[in-house]
Amino acid sequence: MSSSRIWLITGANSGLGLALTQHVLAQGDQVIAAVRKVSSIPASIKAAKPLVLDLNASDSEIKQAGAEALKIYGRIDVLVNNAGYALTGYTEELDDEAIKTQFQTNFFGAISLTQSLLPAFREQKSGHILNISSIAAVAGGAPFGLYNASKAALEAATEALSIELAPFNIRVLIIEPGFFATNFFAAAGVNSARPERVTGAYPDTSKVPEQYVARHLALKQVGDMNKAAARMFEVVSGTGLAKDFVDGGLRDFVRVPLGPDSGTRFGAKLQLLSENVEATRAIWNSTDMDEEKLQEFAKQT
Ligand SMILES: *[C@@H]1O[C@H](CO)[C@@H](O)[C@H](O)[C@H]1NC(C)=O
Ligand SMILES: *[C@@H]1O[C@H](CO)[C@@H](O)[C@H](O)[C@H]1NC(C)=O
Repeated sequence: MSSSRIWLITGANSGLGLALTQHVLAQGDQVIAAVRKVSSIPASIKAAKPLVLDLNASDSEIKQAGAEALKIYGRIDVLVNNAGYALTGYTEELDDEAIKTQFQTNFFGAISLTQSLLPAFREQKSGHILNISSIAAVAGGAPFGLYNASKAALEAATEALSIELAPFNIRVLIIEPGFFATNFFAAAGVNSARPERVTGAYPDTSKVPEQYVARHLALKQVGDMNKAAARMFEVVSGTGLAKDFVDGGLRDFVRVPLGPDSGTRFGAKLQLLSENVEATRAIWNSTDMDEEKLQEFAKQT
């Protein structure tokens, strides 16, 4: 019996999804590559089985794709919710429809697909779900506010899911990459707002991508997607640098930051949160019922 695992990777045709697909295939596991168009699958991952999936489709179409994926090998061991894109622009200027499509693809679509696989995961009493998020979900900023919000929603849902699924031996992880040499910014575009909605009141976004890249180059801090893929594989396998994280860890942590920029921004956000909690202590510690009112409340319940 081969011990190879079956991976379902969404957005397998580019970026981190492609790097991970290549790495997983090279390790001898099988991949179902979920993409919007089969023609977009590069030759380097021809060994993967294609699955047509549009996360902007209806919930029932997405669940149908999940059911088809399960039939290909008769099981799936690792689901990687990787597909997604970044809406760029200022909250005031973006169309409601563009915002809803962002959440549909990055959040609702990932949830529908996950739901379609959970009965099988529970039955086999094993499985990994990796949600590829972004450090942006934890420490976000303009002009990616709504992209970051869609990832933050995903993270909140993922945290809950990891608790729900722990009794079934299903491990749920949030991967939080920092800056990697993907086409993220090219794909994100400079501004998703329609020209007639641009007010001119906010800073020009046209230089954002190149400034971001230049800053990371100056710091020599550019993530290597192949290394990210190797770490993700190790986290699922409990091998390599993830050996202690999975086997020796005292707790099943949910978050895996990738890249020194990600880890550093995470730490900075934690410090800010900690200062925020301290600065508001007098406020949050002033709202409990007084003794008399509390006794009244206790009587009523
Ligand atoms: C996403 O789906 C909505 C609703 O069906 C549709 O209006 C929109 O054009 C779609 N967007 C893309 C980018 O496919
Ligand atoms: C909240 O205020 C009460 C009354 O001053 C104090 O005894 C308590 O230690 C405070 N709790 C926290 C968590 O700061």
